[in-house]
Order: sequence, then C-alpha cells, then structure tokens
Amino acid sequence: MKSTTKEINGFPFESYRHEEYTTEQMRHRSQEFYQWLNQRRTVRDFSNRPVPVDVINQIILAASTAPSGAHKQPWTFVVVTDAAVKKQIREAAEKEEYDSYHGRMSDEWIEDLKPLQTDWTKEFLETAPYLIVVFKKAYDIRHDGSKRNNYYVNESLGIACGFLLAAIHHAGLVALTHTPSPMNFLTKILKRPENERPFLLIPVGYGADETFVPKLTRKPLSEIVQYI
Ligand SMILES: Cc1cc2nc3c(=O)[nH]c(=O)nc-3n(C[C@H](O)[C@H](O)[C@H](O)COP(=O)(O)O)c2cc1C
Repeated sequence: MKSTTKEINGFPFESYRHEEYTTEQMRHRSQEFYQWLNQRRTVRDFSNRPVPVDVINQIILAASTAPSGAHKQPWTFVVVTDAAVKKQIREAAEKEEYDSYHGRMSDEWIEDLKPLQTDWTKEFLETAPYLIVVFKKAYDIRHDGSKRNNYYVNESLGIACGFLLAAIHHAGLVALTHTPSPMNFLTKILKRPENERPFLLIPVGYGADETFVPKLTRKPLSEIVQYI
C-alpha cells in the first residue's frame, strides 16, 4: 500500500500499517516463532568454514533495525576477519580470563559456571570466521568535536544484540555471546574512538562438525510471567 506523508510541527511523518493476522494465524505464528527461537543455543566449538561476508552484513542490518533511545542508534559493529588481529584478541582475552578464573570471580560465580564447563582458554576467538565486536557509543561526537548525548545506551544495545543473535540463528549460523572481563583491550586493539566502549564480543560461524552444548532447561512460563 502506498504510504502517505504529512508534517507535524514541521517534522515529516509517514502513514504506517503493520500486517495483522487472524486469531488462529496469530496462535500458529507465535507458537512457531517460539519453537524456532527455542532451538537457538550458545555454541563454543566453531568450524573455520567460511561464511559469505554479505550474509554478515545482512545480519548486522537486521540488528540495526532495533529500537534505540531517541533513535540515536548508538552502536558500531566491528567485524574482525584478520587472523593476526583475531590472535591478538585471543591472547588479550585469555590473559583477562585466566585472571578471572584464578581469583577475580567469586566462588559462587565459578560454581554457577560449572554446568557450562567453560575455562580461560578461548580457541573460538581464532577459529570462528568472524568476530563481531559490538561497541556502544556512550555519546556521539559532533563535527566540531563537542559531545552529544545518547540515551538508554545499554538498553538499546541489549535489544540490538538480541536482534543480532536472532538474525544469526535465522541464517543457520551459530554464535557465542562472549564477555571477557574487563574488555577494554578491544578498544585498544581495534583502535576505536574514545566515545566507544566494548559491549559484547560475538564469534559467528558454523558449529564444529561435532558440537556439544550443555544440557540446559529454560524456566517455564509460570516462573517468568505474572499477569496482574
Ligand atoms: C551477557 C552475556 C554474557 C555471556 N558471557 C559469556 C562468556 O563470556 N562466555 C561464555 O562461554 N558464555 C557466555 N554467555 C553465554 C551464556 O552462558 C549462555 O547464554 C547461557 O548459558 C544459556 O545458554 P544458551 O544461550 O545456549 O541458551 C553469555 C551470555 C550473555 C547473555
């Protein structure tokens, strides 16, 4: 349908209609979407099989459709493919993770991670064909160098990364949401400007030929919802 436009207080608006479904279709679609999303798993064993870069670009475009505070879109997706840079990232991440696993994390945290059997080694940072490093823009910088505020940056980034993970799953690829802590080595290695802070480090690719993931259960609806 052709969209019409109008001005409100001097600002352009366009008419918008979203697709509606019958009740039965809604039931079917929401159930199907849940079942499909419920297949997504975090994978830690990657294949080095190549993935076309245009697929990665489409995935990032999908992430960038996320809502953001005052439509500031306060994100940069840095895609690392260079083997030397990946090696640098792996070495820096493993250094931080070694310290985390050997004293920085609380006993409770270490205990909570046991079912996942993760440790300080991060081979996937070199194996996965792409590392998408998501940076949040704490503020924007105007042409004259002055700062311009962004709003609800963490919330906006969280939603965009959710879209990103769903798009990766939709493309038939796998991802790991990785948070080596602290992550500021990424700003340095990737030479990011001072207004950008690393948010998530997400290796993307195919799973290894034989992939195992922890057998986890997700909370039932009764534990996560309250209707009032
Ligand atoms: C914010 C965040 C940080 C995470 N950090 C790590 C990480 O550093 N290393 C890792 O192996 N998994 C990490 N994960 C993955 C979780 O362990 C995983 O999502 C959880 O165990 C549930 O598994 P599933 O994603 O397969 O459902 C992280 C997930 C989130 C959302």
